[in-house]
Amino acid sequence: MLTTDSKIEEYILEHIDSEPDNLHLLYRRVNTELLYSRMCSGHLQGRMLKMLVRMVRPQRVLELGTYAGYSALCIAEGLADDSCTVDTIEVEDELEDFITRSLDDSEYGRRVRLHIGDAMELLPRLLGENSYDMVYVDANKRHYVEYYNLLVDRLRSGAFILADNTLWDGKVADGNSHNDAQTRGIMAFNDLVAADDRVEKAILPMRDGLTLIYKK
Ligand SMILES: C[S@@+](CC[C@H](N)C(=O)[O-])C[C@H]1O[C@@H](n2cnc3c(N)ncnc32)[C@H](O)[C@@H]1O
Repeated sequence: MLTTDSKIEEYILEHIDSEPDNLHLLYRRVNTELLYSRMCSGHLQGRMLKMLVRMVRPQRVLELGTYAGYSALCIAEGLADDSCTVDTIEVEDELEDFITRSLDDSEYGRRVRLHIGDAMELLPRLLGENSYDMVYVDANKRHYVEYYNLLVDRLRSGAFILADNTLWDGKVADGNSHNDAQTRGIMAFNDLVAADDRVEKAILPMRDGLTLIYKK
């Protein structure tokens, strides 16, 4: 069951924590000022990310793919206190001003460090300098396999990787052969993780699919 069923989604939203005002405004700003607004997490995914962070209690989180800053702020909100931080990487430099405003408008923005650049180029340095407890993968779907290979080798035992969009609108399992690079990228990632004995994994059929990975 993907929660794209609008009645189910409406019901869920009525029975979970409400969306904080600043995030509600941010979401509206995304829809009026940015292209590809569908990429923004939104109410359900945001509350779920915050809850997962509460459960894992990470000190350091890394996000690949900032977009508007919505998910980074939800992760930051779930952190225990200001000694915990989120590093987030975004390749599109024209989003920098928008993201900076999102962070400035939030009481949790001070927990977020924005890195503008390509995740594949920045990852080796960030992973070398920091020990991350959780990584949220939400950047280029074509490169999920490469992100995973870099991450899984360098993360400590006990760390989590959360990968978004892993059911890719149901395309990964609809029986048709999809030749577009994004679907192929996600399918290769799902197969790689499924076969990797170094990790435990589960897929939440939430929104577009969220894979939870635990490094043994
Ligand atoms: C799905 S959006 C992220 C949404 C955001 N995490 C949220 O939940 O609100 C994906 C973002 O990844 C960025 N991106 C794509 N390729 C990237 C790369 N190689 N390095 C860093 N960011 C990248 C895109 O520009 C886009 O802003």
